[in-house]
Amino acid sequence: MNNFIFENATKVFFGAGCVKEYLRCLTKHYTDTVMLAYGGGSVKENGVYDEVTDILAQAGKRIIELADIMPNPTYAKVLEGAKLAKENNVGLILGIGGGSVMDCCKAVSVAARYDGDAWTDFWLRPGIMDFEPLPVGVVVTAAGTGSECNGGAVITNEESKVKTGRDYPKCNPKFALLDPTYTYSVPKFQMVSGGFDTLSYIMEIYFSEPDEDNVSDDIAEALMKNVIRNLWVAIADPQDYNARSNLMWDAVMAENRIIKLGKCTDFQCHQMEHQLGAYTDCNHGAGLAVLHPVYYRHIYMDGLNKFRRFAVNVWGVDTDGKSDQEIALAGIEMLENFILEIGLPVTLKELGVDEQTDLKEIADSCVISSGSYKEMSHEEILEIFKECL
Ligand code: NZQ
Repeated sequence: MNNFIFENATKVFFGAGCVKEYLRCLTKHYTDTVMLAYGGGSVKENGVYDEVTDILAQAGKRIIELADIMPNPTYAKVLEGAKLAKENNVGLILGIGGGSVMDCCKAVSVAARYDGDAWTDFWLRPGIMDFEPLPVGVVVTAAGTGSECNGGAVITNEESKVKTGRDYPKCNPKFALLDPTYTYSVPKFQMVSGGFDTLSYIMEIYFSEPDEDNVSDDIAEALMKNVIRNLWVAIADPQDYNARSNLMWDAVMAENRIIKLGKCTDFQCHQMEHQLGAYTDCNHGAGLAVLHPVYYRHIYMDGLNKFRRFAVNVWGVDTDGKSDQEIALAGIEMLENFILEIGLPVTLKELGVDEQTDLKEIADSCVISSGSYKEMSHEEILEIFKECL
């Protein structure tokens, strides 16, 4: 295994009823003004907004709202939140939502405490955070990104057409409340998109060096099987508490840095999806679903043993009479069939991309991963995009 330092400062409260039980007490540690941040309104429809605002009112908090955080949050939205936080002397940012809300809250927490250009100094390039961002707490309503337990914030700069994320340990939420019943109302498409994002994140780590015996790869296989199994259960019964609990915790386990330890990690598909998102605003998990099988057919020969292992250990591919190459390809085919069967897209056209879209410009804007089994060129990324059409 490679050397590593591990830190995860988020305190997690997990289970049905956890918001009622702990939120009031948790807010006591912060000054009286809370910025309540949320998305396009699902929290008002499913009752989470009322529940949280009642608790904050009982705790005597003044609430400042940052509403309408969009999927793929923009830097303009971050600046709006930072201005509001500064003007109102906010002591805690409380995000209620999925990855977009949580990421936006973390970026606001940095921009509100920084006088320079936060985008350039912390997102466009990695920065040194020699100050404390505003504290953030989160109430998670959609499983998938694991943003609740990392310092990552993926932000889109609409002007420069760059979507990028960086993980700063100081941006880890101080606390995260995870009630699986809050995810019951997530529409099926978003649920499977979130589940696939979790699966993608695990694969991006699993398919990278080192490949000799290591605990990260073993945990990754267990997590992948758990995501696949529980997505099927949650599709059949969206209110299956056990399945929703597993999917919620899988996302945390995938993205709380633990399985990254000692691994190079790839994240080439994430880099490609981020730029597709910057140009087309496509759904994150759906974009990843389209890219993964095609990308893997480009790289599998350079990581043949690992792709063989994936096919056998994760998908149960029968090896009888097959070459290693045939086994590896059968695993990628199982992945692609799974994507189709759970109702995610397998072509860019389904995401609204067509021949008019300047795929070359998007391909040229992608960051090249140094952790891939096979280093991509911008030409090969363009080939992949074209094959995905
Ligand atoms: O906006 P509202 O009305 O709340 O609706 C949202 C949104 O339309 C809806 N939703 C959330 N909870 C719901 C619900 N609808 C009904 N009931 C509920 N309980 O779901 C839609 C999508 O929400 P969003 O937060 O955008 O989805 P997701 O959690 O997939 O987050 C995607 C963002 O996270 C970034 C992605 O790039 C993307 O910008 N990521 C962040 C990561 C991180 N910080 O570690 C890693 C990820 O791989 C990812 O890159």
